[in-house]
Amino acid sequence: MPYYRRVGEVPHKRHTQFRRPDGGLYAEELMGEEGFSADSSLLYHRNIPTAITAAEAVEVEPQVLRPNHPLKPRHLRTHRLKLGGELVSGRQLVLGNEDVRLSYVAADQPSELYRNAVGDEVVYIESGRATLESVYGRLEAGQGDYVVVPTGTTHRWVPRGGQPLRALVLEASGHVGPPARYLSRHGQFLEHSPYCERDLRAPDEPLVVDDTEVTVLVKHRTGHTRLTYAHHPFDVVGWDGQLYPYALNIADFEPITGRIHQPPPVHQTFAGPNFVVCSFVPRLFDYHPEGIPAPYNHANIDSDEVLFYVGGDFMSRKGAGIELGSMSLHPAGFTHGPQPGSVEASIGKQATDELAVMVDTFRPLHLGPAALASEDEGYAWSWARGEGRAPS
Ligand SMILES: [Fe+2]
Repeated sequence: MPYYRRVGEVPHKRHTQFRRPDGGLYAEELMGEEGFSADSSLLYHRNIPTAITAAEAVEVEPQVLRPNHPLKPRHLRTHRLKLGGELVSGRQLVLGNEDVRLSYVAADQPSELYRNAVGDEVVYIESGRATLESVYGRLEAGQGDYVVVPTGTTHRWVPRGGQPLRALVLEASGHVGPPARYLSRHGQFLEHSPYCERDLRAPDEPLVVDDTEVTVLVKHRTGHTRLTYAHHPFDVVGWDGQLYPYALNIADFEPITGRIHQPPPVHQTFAGPNFVVCSFVPRLFDYHPEGIPAPYNHANIDSDEVLFYVGGDFMSRKGAGIELGSMSLHPAGFTHGPQPGSVEASIGKQATDELAVMVDTFRPLHLGPAALASEDEGYAWSWARGEGRAPS
């Protein structure tokens, strides 16, 4: 999506003869969204990208979602989940619905070649480093990066640096990108957008891998299949277009502040099908002389709200047991807000160093096995506990 990019060698004119040094033709592939009616890229392969020699059904153990019933706010402690595995098969499903699945992973191994044919993926790297290798080339990613991987991109994640790659993985049911209101009618980031083209990183050069007989795990609408390809899909010598994986670091998201409290949409970073992603970053607080920096209690009557706490001091959540890696779920039907005493304590504060990723969904989120395995059962009563009225 973000903007036109050209990497490696491409012919002057699309759909014309483009020859390898041995005189044969490169194989052109168009990868495009919404048929031929939205963003796309043209990739040039050394070999035909369609040559498969085997297809094997893969049974993936289902991670069952259960309704958030009885309705309760939840506190999930992702750092208590198990470590290890790889970024694709090691995903531990925390929350999900028909539009998006939120998984946590602490990967220490390279993933196999993988393609999600159902929707875009957004990988938020909480800590660690990795290389995203794809048909578009190599993209280095690290702490604080959101990496958006378009539907259908053949890729693999390779952790680097010896530390586990801790990540929140969003698997969308469709496409994810900047909110439309940040863009001009031709797709350029507008002046009021909290980030722009200069903040986005993408592959700079193709990988050009020549292996043969490689397998790719495909997540598709009816299950998982492992396809064997005669030639490595990374045999691309060049590509151009507007569809490719890209990274945005949360530190490059410029906060919008005001004289009085600004509502969460100012923190919006991405829009997906029936959900949004927002970034809460270090910023100056409101500067009205009578302003209250802590958020007001709020009932988001049409959405479930997830906050993933990744750094800093969470002023409004003191007393609730929130820790690094905590994820809170505040569902529709429940009014939530700061812990008792936080509002008063916030008055006169100049700035916050909080760092959090928020995901708001318009359909209810259900609880995955990783939610049930990491839940702080007492969280729902924490507001009452702060007033000395909690169940023990
Ligand atoms: Fe909220």
